[in-house]
Amino acid sequence: MSAKTILITGASGGLGAALARAHAHTGAVLLLWGRDEVRLAQTASECRALGADCRTGLFDIRDLDDMLARLSAQDIETPIDLAIFNAGLGGSVSKDAIAETPQKSRATAEVNFVAPVMGANLLAEAMARRGGGQIVLIGSIAESYPLPMAPTYAATKAGLAMFAEALGIRMARHKVRVTLVSPGFIDTAMSRQVPQAKPFLMTADAAAAIITRKIARGARRIVVPWQFAVIRAASNLLPRVLVRAILGRA
Ligand SMILES: NC(=O)c1ccc[n+]([C@@H]2O[C@H](COP(=O)([O-])OP(=O)(O)OC[C@H]3O[C@@H](n4cnc5c(N)ncnc54)[C@H](OP(=O)(O)O)[C@@H]3O)[C@@H](O)[C@H]2O)c1
Repeated sequence: MSAKTILITGASGGLGAALARAHAHTGAVLLLWGRDEVRLAQTASECRALGADCRTGLFDIRDLDDMLARLSAQDIETPIDLAIFNAGLGGSVSKDAIAETPQKSRATAEVNFVAPVMGANLLAEAMARRGGGQIVLIGSIAESYPLPMAPTYAATKAGLAMFAEALGIRMARHKVRVTLVSPGFIDTAMSRQVPQAKPFLMTADAAAAIITRKIARGARRIVVPWQFAVIRAASNLLPRVLVRAILGRA
């Protein structure tokens, strides 16, 4: 594998840490972002043991101007070949609450949608100017369903999916590949907070191995585990009124 500079946000845990390990090979430069110092250092030390050169960025991506300034400076210092915008906030609303609080919905929107969209646009421009690159956005299969248990989460992921597709079309002539990853259930701190059943639950390392292989092939859309691609195709055949009724009972 050729040496590459790879940015991974949300590398301090779950899928992001697993994606970092999956991309850690001798010669790779990994720019690992997160908030939790101890967990981010743990990911970096695991990746260094696998041969990667790791640099960590410890900050809250909800400070959007700071995030953009860091991304721009980082990309000037070490041009990024592959950016994986993975950081995310789960969005389950408690059954006892009537609605999600405006503050929680803002945080979810900023982490899951605003930050990756701003970051991806900044890098798309920079990558295009130097002749190409790859941007990966970690969405969710939730993008396809009006989930009453997580309205803002589902909406941010639906928005991200539309953005990924539109950006991918726009950047094709600039040789910037855009990949959308839509996971089902992956065993992480986020999914452990979901009280509902989690069919086809995968480990983060198993999901990261599949995602990494498909990113390397330049896939535009990745659904993992694959069973959710089949479930989505089948549910797309159902009348929306029926989908709403099923979700309303869930
Ligand atoms: N797990 C699933 O079943 C599942 C399913 C579909 C999609 N996904 C998506 O997969 C991605 C990774 O999720 P995960 O399951 O690995 O969740 P996770 O274990 O909770 O990890 C989330 C990561 O995002 C980072 N993060 C959250 N808010 C941040 C902020 N304000 N600033 C900087 N970093 C922030 C966290 O950093 P700190 O821990 O350092 O705060 C952590 O590294 C998310 O986009 C999620 O929506 C997950």
